Amino acid sequence: MPIRNKPDQWGVVSIGLHWLTFLMILGLATVGLLMTDLPTGSFKVQVYALHKSFGLTVLALTLLRLVWRLLASAPEAVAGTPRWQDRIAKLTHGAMYVLLLLIPLSGWLFNSAAGFPLRWFNLFKVPKLGAGYDPDIKAFAHEAHELLFYALALLLVAHAAAALFHHYRLHDRTLMRMLPFLKPAAVAPVAPPPSEES
Ligand code: HEM
Repeated sequence: MPIRNKPDQWGVVSIGLHWLTFLMILGLATVGLLMTDLPTGSFKVQVYALHKSFGLTVLALTLLRLVWRLLASAPEAVAGTPRWQDRIAKLTHGAMYVLLLLIPLSGWLFNSAAGFPLRWFNLFKVPKLGAGYDPDIKAFAHEAHELLFYALALLLVAHAAAALFHHYRLHDRTLMRMLPFLKPAAVAPVAPPPSEES
C-alpha cells in the first residue's frame, strides 16, 4: 500500500486517518450521549475530561487530514461513476470535513464560555476560546454542538450506505480502496433461462 494517495488508490496515511476518525467519532458519540446522565461525582468529571480531550484530538486529526489531502490529493471516483454521483459524494465529504471541525470547535467554545478548565489528557492546559464566562455564548455553543452532531450522524448514515451500495450492489472498488483487506462482494448467481420443454 503506498504512503501517498494515487489517482486510483488511497494511501496508508489517508486510510489510517479515515478509520481512526471513524473509531473516535463512534466513541465520542456514545460517550457524549450517555455522559450527561451519569451521577455527579469524580467519575463523571473524568468521563467529561476524556470526551473533551478526544474531541480536541479529532479537531487536530481533521486539520492534519486536510493538510495531507492538499499535499497527497485524492483518488478519482472509480471508472463509470456518473458525474452527479461524484458531485454528491464530494459535497458530502466536504460537509463532513466542515462538521468534523465545527463540532469540536463548538464544544471547545461551550467549555470556555462555561468557564470550565480544559487540559488535553491532563498533559497541558488548553487556552480559552473567546472572552471566558458568558451564559449566552454557552447556550448557543451547546445547542450548536448538539445540532451539528446530528447533522454529522445523518451524513454519516448516507455516506456509509453509499459505500455499502458501491460494494454490494455495484460491485466496484470504492469501499475496497478505503478498506484494503475487504474481499470483493459475492455476485448473486443469475437464474438460468427457463428451458423450452417446461
Ligand atoms: C465518523 C465516520 C466517518 C466520517 C467522518 C467519514 C468521512 C469521510 C470523508 C471526509 C471522506 C472523503 C475523503 C476525501 O475525499 O478526502 C471519506 C471517504 C470514504 N469513506 Fe468515510 N467517513 C466515515 C465513516 C465511513 C464508513 C462507516 C464507511 C463504510 C461503511 C466509509 C467509507 C468511505 C469510503 C469508501 C470512502 C472513499 C470514497 C472514494 O473513494 O471516493 N466511511 N469518508
